[in-house]
Amino acid sequence: MVREWDPRTASSAEIASLLDTLNAVLAADLPQDPPWRESSLREYLAEVMPGERRISWIAQEDPDADGNPGAILGQVHVLLLGNIGVLEVLVHPTVRRGGLGRDLVLRAARRVYQEGFESIGVEVVGDTPAVAFYESLGFTQEYVETRSVLDLSGVDWAELAEMSTGVGAGYRVQFHPGGPPDELIEAYARAKAEVRDIEDGELRPSSYDPQRLRDSLDCLHRRGMKPYIVLALHEQTGEVAGLTEVVVPAQHPTRADQYDTIVVQDHRGYGIDRAIKARMLLELRSAEPQLTEVQTWNAQANEAMLKVNAELGYRTDRDWCEYSVDVAELVHRLDATR
Ligand SMILES: CC(C)(COP(=O)(O)OP(=O)(O)OC[C@H]1O[C@@H](n2cnc3c(N)ncnc32)[C@H](O)[C@@H]1OP(=O)(O)O)[C@@H](O)C(=O)NCCC(=O)NCCS
Repeated sequence: MVREWDPRTASSAEIASLLDTLNAVLAADLPQDPPWRESSLREYLAEVMPGERRISWIAQEDPDADGNPGAILGQVHVLLLGNIGVLEVLVHPTVRRGGLGRDLVLRAARRVYQEGFESIGVEVVGDTPAVAFYESLGFTQEYVETRSVLDLSGVDWAELAEMSTGVGAGYRVQFHPGGPPDELIEAYARAKAEVRDIEDGELRPSSYDPQRLRDSLDCLHRRGMKPYIVLALHEQTGEVAGLTEVVVPAQHPTRADQYDTIVVQDHRGYGIDRAIKARMLLELRSAEPQLTEVQTWNAQANEAMLKVNAELGYRTDRDWCEYSVDVAELVHRLDATR
């Protein structure tokens, strides 16, 4: 049975059952990834940025003879933001290839269509069944990134300490657990805005104005995801010359996610990229001692960033692709094949 589902009011048993399915999916498709934990999972699924909405459906087994609710075997949610719906679908490996994935997408697509949105986007992990699945539904690839993973047990900490000090004169490198301090929010947002102009076109929106940045940090905290920031301050102007962001999610606290790393155009060539990333890893070592890995996503074309990551010890993992589809065409195609 497929029904609309609200994580805010769901029972703890449903949240636990969804976690089991998510971990079965990870074990099947991404066996090297750490399993997720239940901490803040409800908040992770429920909390959104102001102006955004997430709508979810679950596929649940029928209750057993004693009336106990059945397991959740599939889930879809769509995040409505701007003019696009961003989709995520999960089907338990034991019930795949029976049409459930397609059914779940149809539920979400109909709603996105009714709400007047034109397109649906989705992140598709390379080398998993999701690629053939979305292509069979008419989604087309828009953009490919490479995920890389750093195993912290292989890091040469002495070398890293040296890298972290190798920044040109006139810059001060600072560590800010929790997010940038209020007095730097505007300068921080300006640094992000500049790069947004160059690298626009991603599903994951960057926060480029001060209010959006505050909202985004607040949303991360509510979802149980702890942000850490290292920035390079240009002492003469007080401008943020470079920044790097890592988030440690309560749901998988042994593997952190690298978010944006930015060096503002005028400040390139002074070793900022290498120094801020090295400083971040050194700080995380004491702030998050349970951490064993950091993962990051980069465009293939971003050779400078890939070079620094390789020096730090990151190993290329797999492709991470963005696909999209016109909603009306998708609904039409799915209805026609029912
Ligand atoms: C992608 C996914 C949702 C598909 O679910 P599903 O219930 O198996 O999909 P369906 O049965 O509706 O398949 C629809 C069509 O997609 C295509 N397809 C799906 N899986 C496929 C596979 N493994 N190989 C080739 N084609 C496939 C087929 O054309 C299929 O139609 P057919 O079975 O009539 O040939 C499921 O594999 C899944 O949950 N993957 C994990 C997705 C994810 O988010 N991962 C991120 C963390 S790893």
